[in-house]
This record gives sequence, C-alpha cells and structure tokens, in this order.
Amino acid sequence: MKNSPRVLVVGASGALGRPTIHALLERGVAVRGLCRHPQAAADLRAAGAEIVAGDLTDRASIERALTGVTQVLAAAHSLLGRGRWRSEAVDDTGHRTLIDAARAAGVHRFVYTSALLASPDQPTDFFRTKHAIEQVVATSGMAFAILRPTAFMEHHVHNFNGLNVLRKGQAKLVGPGTKRRNFVAAADVAQFAVHALLDDPLPFSQLDIGGPDNATNAEVAALYARLARRPLKVSHLPAGVARMVSGLARPFHPGVARLMHLLSLPDDAFDETFSGAAELERRFGIRLTRLEAFVDAQVRAHSQAPGPRQG
Ligand SMILES: NC(=O)c1ccc[n+]([C@@H]2O[C@H](COP(=O)([O-])OP(=O)(O)OC[C@H]3O[C@@H](n4cnc5c(N)ncnc54)[C@H](OP(=O)(O)O)[C@@H]3O)[C@@H](O)[C@H]2O)c1
Repeated sequence: MKNSPRVLVVGASGALGRPTIHALLERGVAVRGLCRHPQAAADLRAAGAEIVAGDLTDRASIERALTGVTQVLAAAHSLLGRGRWRSEAVDDTGHRTLIDAARAAGVHRFVYTSALLASPDQPTDFFRTKHAIEQVVATSGMAFAILRPTAFMEHHVHNFNGLNVLRKGQAKLVGPGTKRRNFVAAADVAQFAVHALLDDPLPFSQLDIGGPDNATNAEVAALYARLARRPLKVSHLPAGVARMVSGLARPFHPGVARLMHLLSLPDDAFDETFSGAAELERRFGIRLTRLEAFVDAQVRAHSQAPGPRQG
C-alpha cells in the first residue's frame, strides 16, 4: 500500500476481530473497530484502537465508520440473531450494504471472512449466504481477499463444549458427537487477516484456513476432562429431538432453529475436516495452534480464574 493504511474492523469485539486489532496495533497501523456494543471493546480502546458504535443494519452508521478508511475487514456475523438482527438482515443485506458503502467510500481493499463450509448447496442457509456474499465481494470492483476458516476453537472447542466440562464436569452433546471436525484458533486466523489487509501485493484472493487437528466433539470433551483431571459425565440430545426443537423454535428464534438444525444433521451431511494446515504453515512461515495446546491453555486459565468459574 502506498499510503498509511487506516483499517476498519467490523466485528471488533468478536473472537476474530479482537486479535486482529491487537495484531494491527502492534504493527503501528491505525485501526477503527466497529460493533453494536462498544463497551465490550473497551480494552481495545485502551490499547489504542478507535472504537465506534455501528450496526450492519444501519447504513448511516456504516458510512460514518468508513470515513477515511483504506482497508476493511468484515468479521461480524449473526448466526444466532433474531428480529432486527436475524441472519438475513446482517449476514446478507447488512454485508451487501457494507460492501456497497465501502466501494462508494473509496476503500482500496476489502477482506471478507467467509467460512470453509460456504457453498451454494449447503443444507444451512447461513453458509449459502456466506457463498453469495463471496460473489458480491469478488465483483465489487475493490481489491479483495476472502478468508475461509473452519470452526473457531474459542467458540466450538471452548465456549460450546469445554467450558461446561471445566465448570460442571459435564459434556452435553447434540447427537452422538462422533463427527470429525476441524478447529482453528481465531488468533491464528487473525494472522491471515493481517496478511490479507496489509501485504503488498495482495497475497491471495481466497484462502481456506484450518488448524492442524481434526477431532470429534466427544474427543474434545474427553481432552478437557483428561487435562483438567476430572471425571466426565457425557449426555446426548438425540438428533431427532434437536430436529424437533429446531422446528418448534423457528417462528420465535430462527437463530436457535438454525443451530439445532445444523447440529442435528448426520455426520456425513457435509465434510468438516481440513488437511491443509502443514501447507499453510510452510507458505506463511507460522505455527498453527494445536488442539491440545489450546485446551491446555484454557484449562490453566480456568484453574487460575477467581470465583464461580472454577469447577
Ligand atoms: N465462529 C466460528 O467458528 C467461525 C468459523 C468460520 C467463520 N467465521 C466467521 O468469522 C467472522 C468472525 O466470527 P467470530 O466468531 O469472531 O464472531 P463472534 O465472536 O461471534 O463476534 C461477532 C461480532 O460481530 C459483531 N456484530 C454482530 N452483529 C452485528 C451487527 N448487526 N452490526 C455490527 N456488528 C455486529 C459483534 O459485536 P456486537 O454484538 O457488539 O455488535 C461481534 O463483534 C464471521 O464472519 C464468522 O461468520 C466464524
């Protein structure tokens, strides 16, 4: 980039937005972070980022945030949203608005966080939307890069699974928990986001990103129990019940309905594994976080946390 970059990160407070902002600040880059609840990003403000309130469903707030911006990272989503923030309004319309407003504002480069599962024939609408937005980004006229990561460890390994093992010695799995999935640390994905935002020339237009390990949800729970040295009680919500919950929830909470539908699908509905981590490490000269190292860090952090977080 010829001029000093000024980066807008949409989804500043998220699992990906947060480490990306820290990495950009460490490189001396001017960063503006946008999310609906800026109080959740107070630490980023303290670290030197400009944090603004904004909403992908409010074009005026997006236009304000884009003032003077040269590069954008789109790292927000609303998989579980409802009402004004239902996925269609944020992940589809909201992102079309963001891309259009960025082009109109003269943004040089747009980096979109899609997902490895994005495809037009996915059984889940969220991933079909991701695919559709990839096409909008690619035909926007801006220089672009699309990140296609697997499931983030911070959410899918820890928040949705391991945390319950640490707090209660329990794993509550939807279905048998036997599907092999790939997990990647969002902190690692942030490194690729920084390359996509700053490298000159653009290092890739699209990149599939995953971690070194594929594992099942049942294996993840067992790993937490082993490293935390505590007994584990595993319960299973049958897939048929999850499907029923999905149907019942649809009129009231499309996000919960979507998640339950996704989790109720059979193991062979679509592939969630990834085998390209060694190639990513070689190409970018980095070390990707191993699943066991990530879990070990969570177990240690939990054992040092005060109060009711301790199991
Ligand atoms: N999580 C995964 O496993 C995974 C896997 C593959 C790809 N991805 C993609 O990676 C990106 C980042 O995901 P993440 O897991 O880091 O997200 P996250 O931790 O769930 O955080 C979501 C972020 O989006 C913001 N946000 C939500 N609705 C918004 C709206 N209407 N307007 C503006 N900001 C809004 C949230 O802040 P406020 O609530 O304050 O608005 C928050 O900063 C997303 O595009 C996601 O689809 C995620």
